[in-house]
Amino acid sequence: MKTEILKAATAQEIEYAAMIGGKIINEGGIVAMPTETVYGLAASIDNDDAINSIFKVKGRPQDNPIIVHIAEREDIYSLVSSIPDEAKALMDAFWPGPLTIILKKSEQISDVVTSNLDTVGIRMPSHPAARALIKAAGCPLAAPSANLSGKPSTTSAKHVFDDLSGKIPLIIDGGQSTVGLESTVLTVLDGGTALILRPGSITPEMIEGVGVKVKIDSAVERPLNEGEKPISPGTAHKHYSPKAKVILLKGTRNKIFEFAKNYADKNAAVICFLKQKLPRGVKRIDIGENEEDKARLIFDALRKADEMELDEVLVSVEENSGIGLAINNRLLRAAEFKVIDVE
Ligand code: TXA
Ligand code: MG
Repeated sequence: MKTEILKAATAQEIEYAAMIGGKIINEGGIVAMPTETVYGLAASIDNDDAINSIFKVKGRPQDNPIIVHIAEREDIYSLVSSIPDEAKALMDAFWPGPLTIILKKSEQISDVVTSNLDTVGIRMPSHPAARALIKAAGCPLAAPSANLSGKPSTTSAKHVFDDLSGKIPLIIDGGQSTVGLESTVLTVLDGGTALILRPGSITPEMIEGVGVKVKIDSAVERPLNEGEKPISPGTAHKHYSPKAKVILLKGTRNKIFEFAKNYADKNAAVICFLKQKLPRGVKRIDIGENEEDKARLIFDALRKADEMELDEVLVSVEENSGIGLAINNRLLRAAEFKVIDVE
């Protein structure tokens, strides 16, 4: 299958790409779409065969449920059986945007989408091309991240092409994802506390800021115990792994500088901020100036490590607050939860 890439920058391009993409989806196909978080691989929620082909194309384990994307707030009512007030408050505050809310599903949602769970994750993306595609298809779209399962998520049309070329008919190129990390996934517990299952750019602080109490699921920061069943099945699987070994460091820039001296003659690079100094001879992959840049560029940096055919890539953890929590969550999985304290 030839994979076409359609640019969707101007309003006219978006309309055209959505029309073509919507047609493919209505004929039972799957389409890669840009979102503000990462690229998604989208199919109609009403077509089990198409959703099954998403699992196949990604090599995704069957037990990992897929998020449903809607274009308008009112689209949610037929998809879920009830919405707690706290969930409504979070939708008011953060939709459209990078927040997925897990709710009890209605009859309309197929078990193929939710891997037989009785809940469904719903998200209303803000990217205009994603919303145009949902509207053109005329139905909510089931869409996981558009990467091969286990690889870093995709934040550009090029990343998607690298993973899925020849396997899907269309990639809608809406530019580089502005957030760069997948959406915050949460569920609302009885009693109204939001439980974060996957941290993202909607931070615990932001959720508290709209008056909703928040807890972070313990599986966010640690590997699962033997036989443990997580609330969010995705947390159980291998994730975000480039071919290069990811070496995760905790310490000041000075201490990281000292540690990096061991890597001058190795086929390795350090993912680091623009102003961060490295010893002579150590390769670098720049990641901007601050945590937001790091969130936006981290998957690109992990993919660059493979383009450079490195054996090892070094990167530091951030403070475990704000978006740092989300960055660390991805890096911990990429490094199989090993952190080297260089202090
Ligand atoms: O930003 C995003 O969320 C992107 C874009 C494309 O929207 N999508 C994305 O999908 O990251 P995916 O499939 O790569 O990750 C979805 C995560 C998985 O960890 C999955 O287990 C969890 O959400 N999830 C989905 N439905 C769930 C449910 N009903 N209950 C618990 N966890 C769920
Ligand atoms: Mg994913």
